[in-house]
Amino acid sequence: MSKTEKKEHFLTLIDYQRKFIQSLRKIVALIGGTGCGKTFLLPIVLIYKARILYAAGNKRVEIIVMAPTHKMLLRNPLKYIIAQFNELGLEYKLNKSEMTIEFAYGFIYLISGESYESMQGIHSDLIILDEAGLMSKPVLDTALQRVAFKNGQLLILSTPYNSNHWLKTEIYDEHLKGNPNIEVFNPKSSDNPFYPLSEIVRARKVLPGWKFTMFFEARFTRPAGLVFESVEFIEPFQLPYGLIYFRGLDFGFNNPNAVVQLALDPNKDVVYVIAEWKKSKTNIDDLEIILKNGHGMVYADPAGKDALETLRSRGVPMTEAKKNVIAGISMLDGMFRAKKLLVFANLPQLKDELSTYQWDIDKSERLLDRPVKENDHLLDALRYAVFSYENGYRFKAFMDSWMALNDHSDNTGW
Ligand SMILES: Nc1ncnc2c1ncn2[C@@H]1O[C@H](COP(=O)(O)OP(=O)(O)OP(=O)(O)O)[C@@H](O)[C@H]1O
Ligand SMILES: [Mg+2]
Repeated sequence: MSKTEKKEHFLTLIDYQRKFIQSLRKIVALIGGTGCGKTFLLPIVLIYKARILYAAGNKRVEIIVMAPTHKMLLRNPLKYIIAQFNELGLEYKLNKSEMTIEFAYGFIYLISGESYESMQGIHSDLIILDEAGLMSKPVLDTALQRVAFKNGQLLILSTPYNSNHWLKTEIYDEHLKGNPNIEVFNPKSSDNPFYPLSEIVRARKVLPGWKFTMFFEARFTRPAGLVFESVEFIEPFQLPYGLIYFRGLDFGFNNPNAVVQLALDPNKDVVYVIAEWKKSKTNIDDLEIILKNGHGMVYADPAGKDALETLRSRGVPMTEAKKNVIAGISMLDGMFRAKKLLVFANLPQLKDELSTYQWDIDKSERLLDRPVKENDHLLDALRYAVFSYENGYRFKAFMDSWMALNDHSDNTGW
């Protein structure tokens, strides 16, 4: 790349990126859709502000750059900062064990949200938070303290996440109320001309509406309505040879025991739900009979450890299921939408559960990020099976593609 091209590249900021850089408010936030160019902007705003501050005070500036986790810090801000320094030919000294960068205008401390306490003692001129929506409230409080002394600026880059997160209540809402210390820019993914439209079209197809609204249209929202909006039921048919069979089991205790039987067609990469069994007041002997009639590994709720061991000792192939509810639901939902998980139409109880499974609401009727725990035993069994089988092969493949939408893959709190 020639020098002039570099310069051009530096100058072609998108309108909201330029305004973000130029804002002098105490807190400036770019709360934008995924891929709208937040992390791209981070080193640019850092160098721009550092140069101005350095020129004004003729002193080296102290900058803190944060990402939610150490891994994200390495993958996003650090990588982008180094790349930009190299591209501009700026000299710098990176100390990777201390996570600091020294350059002509100052000193950068790279700190993860998990260890935000290590900000203590730094009087910072500038703090930049990348993916602030995944950081806890004490991170914000500490960051504000750390810039107060030098009357510095706090810059926030993030996609919107949860509606009760401080990013919404303390920043976005305050900006709407006209707080003079805060400025927020709120572009959609599609406002970035460099972001591929095909990706947005694809996401609209595979994501639940609320998730698309949140990640791509950059609006704070919550999971809404039915958990599984798009399920394909198919007429039962004679299954071909060569399928991989496996099952999910939700132990009943007082509630019904529930089992689903699945079959994976590895050629088509499609999983069929082919049988259901749900019965209350059944015991381990009933389960043994049912399970010995089905096929393949049984992925069961690890909370029923004793029952699981008993069944195993009686010769049923049993494995403890992976249990992360939200990740499991996201995976099922994605497979339903992509028609990778098809349900035989002759399973009335599963059909009933699928058609009533809702996101929960709290006392003030706000939607929560968890489903109502009601009439969900076959769905739990289904989730255990699909989420766990093949040693997490699908989990990994699916989570990779799901999370890559946002590149926040270390967040297990979802
Ligand atoms: N002004 C610009 N000029 C050229 N390319 C840009 C510009 N702004 C952003 N891009 C490109 O757009 C893409 C998305 O940018 P970036 O990764 O910064 O998005 P993001 O908002 O941080 O996304 P995410 O929410 O996924 O972290 C990148 O390929 C980046 O290089
Ligand atoms: Mg980013």
